[in-house]
Amino acid sequence: MNIPVKSRRLFLGDWAKAIIGVSVGASAIGSLLQSCSGPRASSGNAAFRTGFTQDPLPYTYNALDRSIDGSTMEIHYSKHAAGYATNLRDAAKAESVDESKPLEEVLSKVSKYSTKMRNNAGGHYNHEMFWKSLTPASAGKPSGKLVTAIEENFNSFEAFKNQFTDAGKNRFGSGWAWLVIGEDKKLRIGSTANQDNPLMDVSELKGFPLLGLDVWEHAYYLRYQNKRPDYINAWWNVVNWDYVQSRFESIR
Ligand SMILES: [Fe+2]
Repeated sequence: MNIPVKSRRLFLGDWAKAIIGVSVGASAIGSLLQSCSGPRASSGNAAFRTGFTQDPLPYTYNALDRSIDGSTMEIHYSKHAAGYATNLRDAAKAESVDESKPLEEVLSKVSKYSTKMRNNAGGHYNHEMFWKSLTPASAGKPSGKLVTAIEENFNSFEAFKNQFTDAGKNRFGSGWAWLVIGEDKKLRIGSTANQDNPLMDVSELKGFPLLGLDVWEHAYYLRYQNKRPDYINAWWNVVNWDYVQSRFESIR
């Protein structure tokens, strides 16, 4: 589809807002996004908006045992992640956030809120995405347009894996490694500290997250102790590439 220069600038400039659903509705940006990308993109964006409560884990605690043990999964989901969700709702009430709107709206202007909001809004978003990005039936690697894009941006899938693994290994302390797609439609790898993420206005790494890896010790310490690289190598075996692909497809 040919987009007039002025409209194209509008489309790209407001891309991030459109993706996360900020005031899309019947706006010109929303209409443009829908007309350019079709119904699949529209429904995809809606599908990836995040609420203020935990979704059910899409598999049992033991389902990923080849890579992540059941005890770690249970504590991680029912204690750590549940705590972020609870504290997020506390912060939302205290700071008059409308919980009927997508959490992404808070993330995009998180600098205007408290540290408690930043930590727990990020913690909740990151974990909700993390659970869905895992599966006991991993295909092992992406396919279709996603693998083509990865090869175009990183030369090969193996080079991408190495760069992403290094981002996780080298994140000092607690944080996340990310694969994001930027406004320029380029794929990038980076990491964030603590519970920050690439949707936050305070983040140096910016873009729509396609894949996130939790490298907090609580994600791996029971089985892997201090061996974070071993956890990351095992984690590759349970990545849900269909989910990553669907996030990628939703914004193209
Ligand atoms: Fe975590």
